[in-house]
Amino acid sequence: MTLYLVVGLPGAGKTTRARELEVAVGALRLTPDDWLRAVFADDDPEGWRAAERVAHRDRIEGKLVEVGLRAAERGLDVVLDFGLWGRDERSALRWIAAARGIHPEVVYLPVEPAEQRRRVAARYDAGPGEFLMTDAELVQWQEQFEVPDAVELAGGAVPPVPPPHATWSDWASARWPSLPPQVG
Ligand SMILES: Nc1ncnc2c1ncn2[C@@H]1O[C@H](COP(=O)(O)OP(=O)(O)O)[C@@H](O)[C@H]1O
Ligand SMILES: [Mg+2]
Repeated sequence: MTLYLVVGLPGAGKTTRARELEVAVGALRLTPDDWLRAVFADDDPEGWRAAERVAHRDRIEGKLVEVGLRAAERGLDVVLDFGLWGRDERSALRWIAAARGIHPEVVYLPVEPAEQRRRVAARYDAGPGEFLMTDAELVQWQEQFEVPDAVELAGGAVPPVPPPHATWSDWASARWPSLPPQVG
């Protein structure tokens, strides 16, 4: 089975692509934003910025990784509609998938800053429950984002895990505290 890792900044079109994959290949789509909106339905449009909410997102993502791995092992293709800005995040998930006989595939969606601003503003104007983001945040995130390299896009070798972690699974359980360490 394939574990699709959808990579991109807000407004890049991740959820749109994830929905397309859901239909095209019959994949299970896992979108943490949906869970945050559902669980924290009373949040105002800036609520997502609170440190507490960032920690909640990490915990939701960890459980979605766990569910996604189980689903893939039981024969479903799975789409993680997460963002995955960091190379290490992608390396960890590629490593964990491969260790379980699941094929990881990085789906990178680039977006130009002007187009991104336009899309994020239009989405916010159109939908209740959307997260409010400032232009300054979008600029800062463009700088933080680690563009996937050719090796990642081609499904090449996963780099060594950074110390002090023994495996990428350990790294992932530190990054996503609700994700139990994986065997293998
Ligand atoms: N390829 C595209 N071209 C033009 N608009 C797009 C494209 N992909 C998505 N959009 C629009 O941009 C907005 C953000 O897309 P979305 O999929 O929600 O992005 P993300 O999940 O990466 O934040 C939505 O209004 C969507 O309809
Ligand atoms: Mg989205």
